[in-house]
Amino acid sequence: MAPPPYSIPSLPFLLLILTVLGLPRSSSTLMPGFRRQQLETGFQVGLRHIDAGRNFTKLQLIQRGINRGRQRLQRMSGMATTAERNGFQAPVHVGDGEFVVNLMIGTPPVPFPAIMDTGSDLIWTQCNPCKLCFQQSTPVFNPKRSSTFSNISCSSKLCKGVKPSKCDKSCEYRYTYGDESSTEGFMAMDTITFGELPKRISIPRIGFGCGVNNQATGMDQTAGLLGLGRGVLSLVSQLGTQKFSYCLTSIHENKTSSLLFGSLAYSNFNPGKIPRTPLIQNPFLPSYYYLSLEGITVGYTLLPIPEFAFQLGKDGSGGMIVDSGTTITYLQEEAFDVLKNAFISQTELQVANSSTTGLDLCFHLPVKNAADKVPKLIFHFKGLDLALPVENYMVSDPEMGLICLAIDATGSLSIFGNIQQQNMLVLHDLKKSTLSLVPTQCDKV
Ligand SMILES: *[C@@H]1O[C@H](CO)[C@@H](O)[C@H](O)[C@H]1NC(C)=O
Ligand SMILES: *[C@@H]1O[C@H](CO)[C@@H](O)[C@H](O)[C@H]1NC(C)=O
Ligand SMILES: *[C@@H]1O[C@H](CO)[C@@H](O)[C@H](O)[C@H]1NC(C)=O
Ligand SMILES: *[C@@H]1O[C@H](CO)[C@@H](O)[C@H](O)[C@H]1NC(C)=O
Repeated sequence: MAPPPYSIPSLPFLLLILTVLGLPRSSSTLMPGFRRQQLETGFQVGLRHIDAGRNFTKLQLIQRGINRGRQRLQRMSGMATTAERNGFQAPVHVGDGEFVVNLMIGTPPVPFPAIMDTGSDLIWTQCNPCKLCFQQSTPVFNPKRSSTFSNISCSSKLCKGVKPSKCDKSCEYRYTYGDESSTEGFMAMDTITFGELPKRISIPRIGFGCGVNNQATGMDQTAGLLGLGRGVLSLVSQLGTQKFSYCLTSIHENKTSSLLFGSLAYSNFNPGKIPRTPLIQNPFLPSYYYLSLEGITVGYTLLPIPEFAFQLGKDGSGGMIVDSGTTITYLQEEAFDVLKNAFISQTELQVANSSTTGLDLCFHLPVKNAADKVPKLIFHFKGLDLALPVENYMVSDPEMGLICLAIDATGSLSIFGNIQQQNMLVLHDLKKSTLSLVPTQCDKV
């Protein structure tokens, strides 16, 4: 019999939270709403795609995602090349994404819809009084109306984590995201509430950026960002949770996706039985979740891709990350070319002009059974062979008469995108430093 997955780590988990947050180790000091039991067993929150329910076609949804992600891709690749050149982390952060999680913040709790981002660490929300705030659909958070709000001291780990621009009265931070977006303000702590009643859980003293000067495009459905990267500032680091997962439904289905923490992160799978691949750390870009991609099979052919194509270089360049905020998968250029040629040579479908689609490779859509006519696709991660369902790499548009490959070429940093992760439980085991990708009906999680 396998032991219940979370029974042993529960105490260290709780102590870790208390240590990280600097609370005395006595349960009598726990604030109301601090539900120890729920933290031990874990919790689940709903996610929705930023374009959910807006009547776009599959191809339009992907095009919109690619357009939104253009800057993100540049930033991610740019950071990788800066790491390569200078040997240090560039002061530009990633920080946007495709899925929105409905959190609440403060006491009494007020809505905090946030973009989930596994590619950055900082949690932030727009705060009153704003010098400059973008339009959001919920009222801007007002620290004065929250009885549990406090500022973060200059000596705290979380303040050091943002490399403050200035720290005397308060810990001031400024994050820029490429040319157009930024958030600037001071670091604070408050209670964050996850989930819907009756399964709500409130966790006190979560550090976040209280942004009073914010610029962003395409964030109007949100009030900020929830960083889930590997650095000290991220929610997963602050909670000290050893496991989290997400499970994304197909973007065109308008069904709720999930984000899960603690032992719930396994959903109903037996942790001993699911395949894992190591999560590698890049010392130059420590927030990202890097994978070891060892090869790709198209149809029955293991592609002749040079070994170095997906390897993380000693200088921090290259490699492959798994990302929740990038829509399609991007492969290092030479590897992509090999993959593209294999797709063309292994199908009887005719190559179409893809220039209006934003994707690199499209075919004319056959009258029927398009799925039978495209080759199989398997990603060989170290210790984990992932055969993708056809809908996770081919997107068809009957109106345009096209079926396109939802994979494209990029510079040196490859990214495993969220179309490829659809209907998979994407489980991060932070203690063991492994990732599992388990086929799952995500709306049933
Ligand atoms: C999408 O789902 C939401 C929530 O379930 C619902 O309110 C909305 O009407 C749906 N939209 C469409 C176009 O089906
Ligand atoms: C959704 O889009 C289709 C095709 O463009 C259109 O026929 C339909 O009327 C739209 N439905 C809504 C609710 O806008
Ligand atoms: C926190 O710091 C901000 C910025 O310096 C300041 O305006 C605010 O009054 C402080 N709030 C508390 C509760 O100390
Ligand atoms: C593809 O279509 C675009 C726009 O319709 C056109 O400019 C281009 O020449 C076409 N490319 C080829 C190879 O036919």
